[in-house]
Amino acid sequence: MARPGRIEGLAIVSADGMIADATGVQPAALKLEADQRFFFEAVRRADVLAHGRNSGEGGPSAAQKRRIILTRSVTSVTADPHNAKAVLWNPASATLDTVWDALGPSGGLLVVIGGTDGFGLFLELGYDVFHLSRADNVRLPGGRPVFPGVPERSPEQLLAGHGLKPGDTQVLDAAAALTLTTWTR
Ligand SMILES: NC(=O)c1ccc[n+]([C@@H]2O[C@H](COP(=O)([O-])OP(=O)(O)OC[C@H]3O[C@@H](n4cnc5c(N)ncnc54)[C@H](OP(=O)(O)O)[C@@H]3O)[C@@H](O)[C@H]2O)c1
Repeated sequence: MARPGRIEGLAIVSADGMIADATGVQPAALKLEADQRFFFEAVRRADVLAHGRNSGEGGPSAAQKRRIILTRSVTSVTADPHNAKAVLWNPASATLDTVWDALGPSGGLLVVIGGTDGFGLFLELGYDVFHLSRADNVRLPGGRPVFPGVPERSPEQLLAGHGLKPGDTQVLDAAAALTLTTWTR
């Protein structure tokens, strides 16, 4: 059975732990240049991306990237009829090993880019690394949380509760109160 060699996740959250506003849109206030540079570098490093229907990275290189698209519209794992580089995966009926076998890489880096349920699924499956950016000037009450269980618990409490430990916090943009903390197992 093939497995990813390493699973990383990354997200930028508001002060209240949200990745998008109450309408499901990631606002401009959460699209900050220093974080976007970090995000696209992680996407570039990935052998495979995993995400839900509304969380693809977009941009000119997207068509070249292998990806796993989470969906409840299929059973198990099927080829994406619209994208030869993608598979559709329903995690309720197939394991990560099964979808990784379908994609073919041996080992390799899987990078999880959201949204809420996808981030939460891999929190249970086990991240090796999670890069958590915070834009502490932004609040998005009623928004989409980074993990199920936020805001009752903070993203940091949930990461710690799943066995991850924080590294040093870097300031990416002081004016925007934007920081990045990498959590590792
Ligand atoms: N700030 C950040 O770092 C960040 C990161 C990611 C996304 N975002 C933003 O957050 C918003 C997220 O949108 P969204 O909540 O609609 O999330 P999404 O995860 O992109 O899309 C939701 C869809 O993904 C599928 N899905 C998700 N989890 C699944 C699971 N466990 N099993 C099977 N299918 C699953 C379902 O597709 P089907 O309907 O096909 O079944 C579901 O309807 C977007 O605005 C995005 O831009 C922000």
